[in-house]
Amino acid sequence: MSRTNPPPKRRRSALLTAGVLVATAIGTGGLMQGTASAAAFGCDVDYSANDWGSGFTANITIHNTGTSPTSNWTLTYAYSGNQQLQQGWSGRWSQSGKNITVTNESYNGAIAAGGSVSMGGNFSYSGSNAAPTSFSVNGVACNGGSDPGDPGDPGDPGDPGDPGDPPGDRVDNPYEGADVYVNPEWSALAAAEPGGDAIANEPTAVWLDRIAAIEGVNGGMSLRDHLDAALEQANGDPIVFQTVIYDLPGRDCAALASNGELGPDEIDRYKSEFIDPIADILSDYAQYDNLRVATVVEIDSLPNLITNVSGDTGTANCQTMAQNGNYQEGISYALSKLGDIPNVYNYIDAGHYGWLGWDSNFGPAAELFHETATMNGASVDDVAGFIVNTANYGPNTEPYYAVTDSVNGTSVRQSDWVDWNNYIDNQSFALAFRDELVSQGFNSEIGMLIDTSRNGWGGPDRPTGPAAMTDLNSYVEGSRIDRRYQTGNWCNQSGAGLGERPTAAPAAGIDAYAWIKPPGESDGASEEIPNDEGKGFDGMCDPTYEGNARNNYNMSGALPNAPLSGHWFSAQFQELLANAYPPVD
Ligand code: BGC
Repeated sequence: MSRTNPPPKRRRSALLTAGVLVATAIGTGGLMQGTASAAAFGCDVDYSANDWGSGFTANITIHNTGTSPTSNWTLTYAYSGNQQLQQGWSGRWSQSGKNITVTNESYNGAIAAGGSVSMGGNFSYSGSNAAPTSFSVNGVACNGGSDPGDPGDPGDPGDPGDPGDPPGDRVDNPYEGADVYVNPEWSALAAAEPGGDAIANEPTAVWLDRIAAIEGVNGGMSLRDHLDAALEQANGDPIVFQTVIYDLPGRDCAALASNGELGPDEIDRYKSEFIDPIADILSDYAQYDNLRVATVVEIDSLPNLITNVSGDTGTANCQTMAQNGNYQEGISYALSKLGDIPNVYNYIDAGHYGWLGWDSNFGPAAELFHETATMNGASVDDVAGFIVNTANYGPNTEPYYAVTDSVNGTSVRQSDWVDWNNYIDNQSFALAFRDELVSQGFNSEIGMLIDTSRNGWGGPDRPTGPAAMTDLNSYVEGSRIDRRYQTGNWCNQSGAGLGERPTAAPAAGIDAYAWIKPPGESDGASEEIPNDEGKGFDGMCDPTYEGNARNNYNMSGALPNAPLSGHWFSAQFQELLANAYPPVD
């Protein structure tokens, strides 16, 4: 989640440079005392408590403010009252009288210079519950810690709107100050491609696209394997594990390439065989305070209910899903189950500007999202934010023309390309849609993600500046970096490149640019391929297809010879690398 104006955070710090006494021989054999600058470990500590009257959760972060890493740590502090440790996590906790000692676990001992590590513990108490005032790490006094009433300290009881207040203990933006999990399976595929090494260490999402994916498909990693690997990758800072929850009944109702295993009515299986086991596993990892799970919830489904149920663009499958209510039922169930887990951050898929950017779709979509997020026990508190452009190709920004431009007195909104849309790129859409969602009742702290895995549009066909303003359509055609035939095109787009590398908090209101669709994984087969994954053949993945109402009867723009959706497509990976923007060195 992302506030537009993050509250200031006060922290006191002490940098202790170990002054090492050295004896230096000079000149005639006299001795001089001096200091040599040796390993400098400095620390400050954030402390906050979620207090419910008879007990509290203490959340503690140690920051290494020094210039050297440390490979293990022991934190000590004392309470002044009768606080009694019940259980602790992300560290080995013990108590002797009023004194608390926490030492690192095997996986979180390292704190890089400038890095941090977080831990937590539950305590009972009676009487008063003053926050401790001094902390030491490895014997070095940190003198950090927050006053119980520091405005804006996450978790201080009574700070209005504080995301650290019960029931969750979430931070505002999980990506901020955190590393993001690098999926070793994707990484190995990327590294095996020519030039792929340059990006093989970028974080990409783990897709749970079928029930079997929870335990691992074809000998691949299970969800637990990934979570364990994420904990191992954590190196002082918190780590975000990104996963896509993608197995709704009647999945992908307006297309065929990603149809799934569950029929339109199999909502019970969705709940009991897919969401419940995922929630059980994630609950086992809720104890790891340094792990933040970002879930991308069911891409394309709610947007399909907005545009693809009736009229020209409607499909029979979307009509079925609108009538049986199972998209909303499944999503609300997922939000509520996963939202119960304190370190899970649910991001609902919100299509992209070329889908929901028109007035007729914009408000109704936000309303549908709110309705869905508040039914069947789900609440807006289960929603950390929304994601746009998942597995799509729309740019973050169109640098060379603006939606407010006009040519010879006619607005670019009337050009063939823009076609009355209010948005011409994803970041402007995401921020405006965020406001609309808040006005519908979502929390004002929600943050947006943009999938930038394949929306870079570099390479030789990228315009280098605005075209001449002589004619409306030629101005837009010559200025736009998005080289698709139409914004409704979504399958293996020819000419596309990798977009912005994953980045935390790139702008107010945007939690992160994230690579959710793993670059190099196909969007769909370019011809019929028999399979047991439920995947169909969609003309939109066939380069010779001339389109349908949903892309206004344009050519598909798809690359040839593509495998099934989700399968490795080496030629696409290489094209994405070659056309990356920013370019890959
Ligand atoms: C496919 C999934 C796959 C995902 C990521 C989707 O289009 O349907 O099976 O996991 O893409 O590549």
